[in-house]
Amino acid sequence: MKGQPLIPFLLIGVAGLFLMLVLSFVGLSQPGEEDENGDENGEEASVEMGAELYEENCLSCHGDDMEGETGPAIAGDDPDTVLSAIEEGPGTMPEDLVTGEEAEAVAEYVSEGGE
Ligand code: HEC
Repeated sequence: MKGQPLIPFLLIGVAGLFLMLVLSFVGLSQPGEEDENGDENGEEASVEMGAELYEENCLSCHGDDMEGETGPAIAGDDPDTVLSAIEEGPGTMPEDLVTGEEAEAVAEYVSEGGE
């Protein structure tokens, strides 16, 4: 049969497709594994906590998107700057609105611009 020499080429084609599928699965599964990492879940929880605390304690003066209202824009401020502002209450800002772990969660949240 003169058709037979085609078979090896078909096999190579099928094997190539199979290889591509396997490689793309490997590529896709990597980010998923990182998401299951316990540390990241912990971070998400504190970001959520930071978001709630921000809304309750800071939003009225610093605005929805931290771009400022009565108070200045603070999105992306260094966590240490935010913590000392919370402790000291600069200008008309009340001091100690939040303390301890809560203050740290807000500082983290603000320093990341609310993300
Ligand atoms: C009653 C209004 C008010 C509330 C509530 C408030 N702030 Fe402020 N905040 C201000 C004002 C006004 C300033 C500017 C003070 C100044 O320097 O004269 C300020 C300053 C700051 C600064 C320093 C900005 C800079 O660049 O120096 C940070 C950081 C800050 N606030 C974070 C927060 C956080 C976090 C919260 C919530 C826990 C909060 N503020 C709640 C009014 C407020």
